[in-house]
Amino acid sequence: MNTVTVSAPGKLLLLGDHAVVYGYPLLVTSVNQRLHLKATLLNDALFQLEAPDVNVHNLSKTMHEIGRGEIIKGASYIERGLINFMLKYPFKGGVKIETQSEFSSQFGFGSSSASIVSLIKAMAVLIGVNLDNKELFDISYKTLIDVAGIGSGFDLAAAIYGGVIFYITPGKVIESVKVESLSLVVGYTGVKVNTASVVREVAELRTQKKEFVDTQLKLIGEYVQSVKQAIMKKDWAFVGSLMNKNQEVLERLGVSSPKLDALIGAARKAGAYGAKLSGAGRGDCMIALVSSEKKQLVSEAITSAGGQIIPIETNAAGVVVE
Ligand code: MEV
Repeated sequence: MNTVTVSAPGKLLLLGDHAVVYGYPLLVTSVNQRLHLKATLLNDALFQLEAPDVNVHNLSKTMHEIGRGEIIKGASYIERGLINFMLKYPFKGGVKIETQSEFSSQFGFGSSSASIVSLIKAMAVLIGVNLDNKELFDISYKTLIDVAGIGSGFDLAAAIYGGVIFYITPGKVIESVKVESLSLVVGYTGVKVNTASVVREVAELRTQKKEFVDTQLKLIGEYVQSVKQAIMKKDWAFVGSLMNKNQEVLERLGVSSPKLDALIGAARKAGAYGAKLSGAGRGDCMIALVSSEKKQLVSEAITSAGGQIIPIETNAAGVVVE
């Protein structure tokens, strides 16, 4: 085989944002918007990349040059992932990578993580290596840290395993939570967030007010444990109420924003079980848990409050060879 196409899902963080960085568990769900990656082996020792969603067009260099010199931002995860893969599984010749995403890299759906996972999986298939999910996670996580310097890695777990996952960083626990699907409405704020800088701000606040911040993070960890049980029992009213409490903690940590608050408030007022920001905060998306009867009303309320509805379904499959 010298060509393979692989796809991996995007993700939405359900509960546990930020606290996960400090060792508390989180809950994440994969979503049915996927990143597709085609990898083709080349006889010449060339690396070629076409990734229009992150503004990479006709990138071509020798395999020797990967990860060296000035690296285009949109190419960094792919180049580093390839290096990390080759450190364990060297191969001769080169490779052409083409990516195409069903979702914008602006949403915070984890396009970088989905591309790392898809790349490593595709390379393993192409050169005939049997990678299990844990090894796929480990090479992917090393790549994430090499490039971003920070990150709990839950989006890699969502991209690999799919479904709803209970996660403790860095892949210490990756557990599937059995649930058919979650009825979520997703509202995009229109604001792109730099996750690493918001994570650093929380770390900074913790150096000033350690006891306060630690108490908040611990609360989030407790909500996650309770929601894990409640999801399995389909106790949506309870799940929603703890999403609201999780949001209150995130507000106290200072990572929400007026726009997020407006969309979340509108969703609750329109009858959502609960609503919160999803991810680092300050922008990206908010999520609302809704009954099927309330879905339309909540969507309209979020739109009226200035949000953009991103249609998604949960329970999407993890990484697959297409
Ligand atoms: C960002 O999507 C979620 C954070 O918890 C950071 C991380 O887990 O790496 C804020």
